[in-house]
Amino acid sequence: MTFSVPALPYTYEALNPHVDTETMVKHHDFHHNAYVTNLNNAVTAQNCTLDLNSIVAKAGQLGAAIRNNGGGHYNHSLFWKMMAPIGTSNVKPTGLLAKKIDEDFGSFDTFKKEFTTAAITRFGSGWAWLGVGEQGKLAVSSTPNQDNPLMEGLVDKTMIPILGLDVWEHAYYLKYQNRRPEYIENWWNVVNWDKVVQYYDDYASKGEVVPIDA
Ligand SMILES: [Fe+2]
Repeated sequence: MTFSVPALPYTYEALNPHVDTETMVKHHDFHHNAYVTNLNNAVTAQNCTLDLNSIVAKAGQLGAAIRNNGGGHYNHSLFWKMMAPIGTSNVKPTGLLAKKIDEDFGSFDTFKKEFTTAAITRFGSGWAWLGVGEQGKLAVSSTPNQDNPLMEGLVDKTMIPILGLDVWEHAYYLKYQNRRPEYIENWWNVVNWDKVVQYYDDYASKGEVVPIDA
């Protein structure tokens, strides 16, 4: 199976000023592209014919090259779609997901604080996540490097991710330098809540993993 970088669902400039154009170009065309190239090389070298969801699920058994680059491809493929230009998505979750966030976190603001703390305190490179875990309960977690909550046995909390935030320096350094909290605060403005709701309704609430082309 040969993997490829999906096109952005908006222009490189579309998330300005919160996520700047140069960061989007480098992040998508260079960083994501490198994960895909390295993943293709690794699966060829290891004769691995699994699809991406299976690679992520079995990451612990596939070695560092497939784990890191498979995770990198999965995480970034969803990440691009979890963002949207201002004015093109609801600014908060709606429907069932909104209700469930209130039930499981107490309120949207409490969820937001918990997620922000997870993103700020992730040491080094990694991601913060909102996902659906045991008994359909929503939870927040963070993972190092390109791991994600689907990597059973490798992460503290196994969940189906529906929202993720890249806190690698490559995601923010050009605009925000070392000010990760400022990047995170701005990023909330471009979260594509309509997409996150769709990921929840169509997949995660049914216990299904979100496919990268969803
Ligand atoms: Fe990234």
